[in-house]
This record gives sequence, structure tokens and C-alpha cells, in this order.
Amino acid sequence: MQGKKITELESRYVMQTYGRLPVVFVSGKGSYLTDVDGKRYLDFVSGIAVNALGHCHPAITAAIADQASRLVHTSNIYFTEPQVLVAEKLVQMSGLDRVFFCNSGAEANEAAIKLARKRAAAVLGEERYEIITAYKSFHGRTMATLTATGQSKYQAGFQPLLKGFRYAVFNDLPSFISQAGDKTCAIMLEPVQGEGGVHPADIEFLQGLRRFCDDNNLLLIFDEVQSGLGRTGHNFAWEHYDVKPDIMTLAKALGGGLPIGAMLAEEEVAGVFAPGDHASTFGGNPVACAAAFAFLRVLEEEAILSNVCKMSAYMQDGLLGLSQTLPDHVDSFRGLGLMLALELKLPSARAVVAECLKMGLLLNSVSDTTIRFLPPLNVSATEINEALDILKVALQGHD
Ligand SMILES: Cc1ncc(COP(=O)(O)O)c(C=O)c1O
Repeated sequence: MQGKKITELESRYVMQTYGRLPVVFVSGKGSYLTDVDGKRYLDFVSGIAVNALGHCHPAITAAIADQASRLVHTSNIYFTEPQVLVAEKLVQMSGLDRVFFCNSGAEANEAAIKLARKRAAAVLGEERYEIITAYKSFHGRTMATLTATGQSKYQAGFQPLLKGFRYAVFNDLPSFISQAGDKTCAIMLEPVQGEGGVHPADIEFLQGLRRFCDDNNLLLIFDEVQSGLGRTGHNFAWEHYDVKPDIMTLAKALGGGLPIGAMLAEEEVAGVFAPGDHASTFGGNPVACAAAFAFLRVLEEEAILSNVCKMSAYMQDGLLGLSQTLPDHVDSFRGLGLMLALELKLPSARAVVAECLKMGLLLNSVSDTTIRFLPPLNVSATEINEALDILKVALQGHD
């Protein structure tokens, strides 16, 4: 089908909830995507941190094909092997004890919220249901996770929101402490805020939150949907801080491109969920889990984390060079691992992203002035050079 026909059908039949860029993709290999006209693009968006090993990694493609040829789905009222393999691997990687599987980041956070409330009801008392989250956070689009998301722009038009959420300032421990009271049961946040503009937590802040939660019998929930699974150079971003959560959520990269989410918890907390308390028809689906297991094996066996650390340093050197060469265009850069952002002095990051698209580079803006980079975790120095060269030309074209 022609690209024009596809965009016409989309505008006619699909609910218009996305502001899409004008490109139709048909295939991908490694760090590159190809559009319907055969043009290649270097992908530094990675499906917003999903395609962590690039497109169509052979191990993931083979795992999906193999599992799809044997068993695609059964209900969670039965057992399947891929699900337990992924659960075992995630537990080994995280040091947490049990996993609940679902299909997305929002669902993983929804499960975390439910578990925190159930645990509070069981251990602390029915009136302890409040969860404190951070301003500028992003936790998803279901009603509970939308309420948890501390950004009014996502909530507008969807009131009334869920009861039981309070907000505090990210990286401001006194702000969190001031929001805690006799109804609080948990604190939930991203160790590196992603959609809020790529802001890593400060070490004193996260360590202080851990101490505060321990002292007050509150759960610390980390949303690692975007920052987890190698993105920052550790399996989980919290390892940079030596601060282990009681509950952690994952999704995005986990399925190597297939939809899967996971909520992990330590034994004492996980144990408050009894059969029937929570469920998902598709959660832990055999094909999604086969893809996830293949992804986790590659993450471990192909030294992906050390590549992330090396390429992060390399890319930050490049971004520093860019900010020195174009001081009127670039303000600063920030981030952790391969979750990086460039702060512009120009009014429209969106215009720069559009220019890069024309030149065959996919980037994404997270605010009017912020460009986000989420390259594949196995990206090469040559690909980073290519991306920075294109970005430089795009920036120079915008005064
Ligand atoms: C930190 C974080 N949590 C949750 C979500 C929601 O994930 P999903 O879109 O899979 O529901 C996202 C998505 O961007 C995210 O970045």
C-alpha cells in the first residue's frame, strides 16, 4: 500500500489520539528503519525505549518465531514455561522476589498501586491508602496511573481523578516528607524522569527517601518502565544509587518490541496478593515471554551494559562538542547512560526534530526546548557520529 493511502486510512479510521510525524515505516534492521519509499532512518527513539537491541535482533526474532509456531496463548489458569523463565531471570537480576506479568507500563504501575494499597490495608490499616508521586512524573494513562502522573496537562478533561494521590517536588526530600501523613502508604517515582524531560534523581534524594520509607513503614515503588533493563548502564537505574525499591515496575524494553509489563516486589509485600486479587488475560503470554527471555539473555551475554556505558560517554563527549561549537543553539545536556537529553536555546525542539527526520534521523522532543535521545543499547560509535552530524546541520539551520 502507498504511504499516502496509509495516512489517509489512518485519519479516516483511527481515533486521533496521536500527533504523528509524516513517515510510514515498513521494516527495520539494527539501528535503522526503512520507510514505505525505501528511505532509511537512523533510529534514536527506539520506539520510546522499547527496541533496546534495535530492530529485528536475530535472537528475538527467532524466539518469537519459534514460540509462535508452538504455542501462542493459554490462560493464566494454566502454567507455561516461558513465563516462569522470565520471572526467574527478573528475580535473579533484581534481587526482588516475585513477579506479576501484564502488558504495558501503565498496567505494571496500576498493579503496583493496587499491591501497595492491599499491603497497607492488610498491614497498616484501611485508612492508609495515599501514595505520593513527583511533579513532572509520568506513570501511564489509565485512571490510576494518570492520577499518579504529576502533570496536569495529561489530566485535563479526565476529572474526577482517583482519590488518594499527593504530589511532591522531584529531587526535593523535604517536599516529599511534607506531603506524608497518617494516610500515606507509599512513595512512587521514576529514578530518572523520562517524559518529564530526562531528569535523573540526586543520590541524596533517593537515599533519603529510602530511609524515610524505612522509618515510617512506607513502600518505595520505582517506576523503571523507561529507565530499566540496561537503559542507564545498569540493569536498573536504582543500582546507580544503591537504593533498592520494595516494588519495581518494568515494560517497554522487556519484550524486545512485544507488549509485556512486569511488576516485581519483595516477598513480604508480594505475599499480600492472593489468588483472584489481580489478573491479566494476556499477562505473561508465551510469545511475549519468549521474546522477553531472549532479550534478557542478550542483555547479559552480549555485554550490552558495558556498551551502554562506553557509548554514553562517547555520546556525551559529542554533545559537549556540539554545545561548544553551537553555543547560541545549545544550552546543556543531561541524562544517564543512553537516556540523554539536549536542552536548546532555540524556541522549537519540535522543528529541529522535524528537520532531522527529513535528513534521516529519528529523534524526539520532550518539551519545547528539549530533545531526547534513546538510541538502541547496542548502538555503535559510527552511528552516534552519524546522528550528531545530522543534528548539527539541523541545529545550524535554526537560528
Ligand atoms: C516511566 C514510565 N512509566 C509508565 C509509562 C507508561 O507505559 P505504557 O505506555 O506502556 O503504558 C511510561 C511510558 O512512556 C513511562 O515512561
